[in-house]
Amino acid sequence: MERVALYPGSFDPWTNGHLDILSRAVKMFDKIIVTVAVNNKKSAVFNGEERIKLIKESIKKYDWAGQVEIIQFTGLLVDLAREKKVNVLLRGVRQISDFEYEFRMALANRRLAPEVDTVFLMPDEQLTFISATIVKEIAAWGGDLSSFVPDNVGKALRKKYET
Ligand code: PNS
Repeated sequence: MERVALYPGSFDPWTNGHLDILSRAVKMFDKIIVTVAVNNKKSAVFNGEERIKLIKESIKKYDWAGQVEIIQFTGLLVDLAREKKVNVLLRGVRQISDFEYEFRMALANRRLAPEVDTVFLMPDEQLTFISATIVKEIAAWGGDLSSFVPDNVGKALRKKYET
């Protein structure tokens, strides 16, 4: 049986931390569905299509790229998991402070869909400080993003904040 996991997130933008988690997950699962959550009530730098394109570009050089599908969704994650017949959700945890929110979300998802479990992975310790919020702040002030995001994401961010 194919082992499949959903890797959900806002990914606005996709960072080196997300890429690191994905590169670990492909060793454990046959297929990862990167699920870009599009929340129309939340203002975002990149729309869903742009985020998908940036993720695709950033992984195409890896030999595991074929194991990854990238989709966008709006709604409850467990509904998507059921629709896709996937019972593993994958989330990255960088620090203890992430854990409280992640723990609540994992248990809420389990209450909604008992067959769905959440697997947590830790990124490389050098990447634990990276967050999409910090990346956007650096981008807004024209800082060096090279160690925070893949090159193509850095370029796209610079373009967004140019005007
Ligand atoms: O990258 P993020 O913003 O931390 O990702 C959070 C995300 C998108 C995974 C979470 O908000 C989510 O699953 N949203 C969809 C609605 C849902 O199912 N919420 C969880 C029920 S508690």
